[in-house]
Amino acid sequence: MNRMSGTSGTEEQTLQRIETLSRSSGGRFIVFEGIDGAGKSTLMADVEAELSPSHDVVTTAEPSDSWIGDCVRQANRSDVSPFTEAMLFVADRTEHTRRIREWVDRGKVVLCDRYYGSTMAYQSVVLDRMMGADSMDWLWSLNEPVVTIPDLTVLLDLPAKTSLERVNRTRETVSKFERLGYLEEVRNAYLHLAKRDRSYVLVDATRPQRSVRREALTLVQACVCSVRGGI
Ligand code: TYD
Repeated sequence: MNRMSGTSGTEEQTLQRIETLSRSSGGRFIVFEGIDGAGKSTLMADVEAELSPSHDVVTTAEPSDSWIGDCVRQANRSDVSPFTEAMLFVADRTEHTRRIREWVDRGKVVLCDRYYGSTMAYQSVVLDRMMGADSMDWLWSLNEPVVTIPDLTVLLDLPAKTSLERVNRTRETVSKFERLGYLEEVRNAYLHLAKRDRSYVLVDATRPQRSVRREALTLVQACVCSVRGGI
């Protein structure tokens, strides 16, 4: 079927060849994922600074800067069904992916802050409860037809407690606990996804920023320098 739920060998090899051919221009698609406060933004800025002198780099993010991205942000602030929210994230991603494909086809290295992993991790935690089942399969069936599998996804992993201490959010105790619990579930969903998705590489983000940066840069350089699409 697909790379998430067990493609047959030949089918997957064909898909990989197509992806490789479409990226023969040298373009790459690299995604950064992690719970809030994991340090994605700082890391992306570091990677951009490192690659820019030698590569044509584009940085982008989800929710995107388009009108659909604005709808997503509006939905975040409103009382909408978690199903609506999930589908809005995917609608935004559908259009964003068309832009990403164009950049990659033009030989650019695209660095993206959040992609389908965010929907799979954040929305699955809420939807599991509503659907009474593993919602990841449903979320993947929405995403699969519209996404491009990244050449590399860097998952910055750290406990929710550490991430919240880092962002230094001031909230009253109960909601802080609720948020802490939610983010810990999101972290576990990311770890589950990382085992199923071969674009994912786990980076231990509890270490000093310098070490995280060094490891991520090594991964990114290997991806950018590789002949094939993917490392
Ligand atoms: P973002 O602007 O990246 O926040 P931050 O800079 O704090 O990482 O994302 C906003 C929130 O949207 C973030 O808490 C994660 C959430 N989100 C989802 O729940 N699903 C998604 O598909 C995406 C892209 C983001």
